Amino acid sequence: MKITKAVIPAAGLGTRVLPATKSMPKEMLPIVDKPAIQYIVEEAVASGITDILIITNRGKGLIEDHFDRAPELEARLSSGDRQAMLEEVIGISRLANIYFVRQKETRGLGHAVNCARSFVGNEPFAVLYGDDVIIGKDPACGQLIRAYEEFGKGILGVKQVTPEAITKYSSLKVENIRDNYFHCTDMVEKPAPDQILSLYSVLGRCVLPPEIFDILDQTPPGAGGEIQLTDAMCALARSTGMVAVNFTGTRYDMGNKLGILQATVEVALSHPQIGNDFRAYLKEIAGNL
Ligand code: UTP
Repeated sequence: MKITKAVIPAAGLGTRVLPATKSMPKEMLPIVDKPAIQYIVEEAVASGITDILIITNRGKGLIEDHFDRAPELEARLSSGDRQAMLEEVIGISRLANIYFVRQKETRGLGHAVNCARSFVGNEPFAVLYGDDVIIGKDPACGQLIRAYEEFGKGILGVKQVTPEAITKYSSLKVENIRDNYFHCTDMVEKPAPDQILSLYSVLGRCVLPPEIFDILDQTPPGAGGEIQLTDAMCALARSTGMVAVNFTGTRYDMGNKLGILQATVEVALSHPQIGNDFRAYLKEIAGNL
């Protein structure tokens, strides 16, 4: 079955980026001139997704506004010679069919994904975490969708992380199939040092079968007292197996301050308008460091 639906959980509290995220959703933090969540929606669309559900909560109205029309702004842009910007602004509202639902309590990523049950119905679907921006020629979500088409089971977007970082992420038991494809039969969220299964971790993308919802219904709170998507995916990996794809592209963690700066610097360096000036500026200040 062709995958056309995606879910973007964006209802977290973003406590690691405070105070910026006190009233501003972290998914709206810009990377140069576009909010993080627009990069994610564009990746989904470039991967063949037509319908996107964004999971929000109180205070995330800015996300809805960003994907809506903006009549006053559009009127202002249409009166000058800013046609290209006008088209870009209108284009954001036409990227996909975008729906919103609120996660009424912040009970974890697994709980957020479970809010998508009636949107998803009985189809496989993609999940793109709202604070993980992945930039690359071949959209990461599309790489996972192709793997789903080949293997017909849940797909995990993975990368290797450092031994120091793995305890903050998930750790997967993997066995290579070929190239960047692996069988995954077990996983653990935020492993203690003696629970580490490998340095491969799920980073921001997966494709899930609709069976995940029944599993999520049965998943008790795990690490941090939250209902963890990893725990539900672990049950799936242990029963049917899942396939992990070591995707290409650079992943930026917009959920922490260093990740935001890395994304900003790297995207700015290749930005068509400011790239050259920014490179000269960086070289100048780097000389004084
Ligand atoms: P994180 O654990 O990074 O989000 O979840 P967080 O809770 O905002 O982070 P900190 O630790 O407080 O800084 C990964 C993704 O899952 C979403 C977040 O919005 C983020 O995109 N999420 C998390 C939800 O939608 N609901 C939740 O209850 C938790």
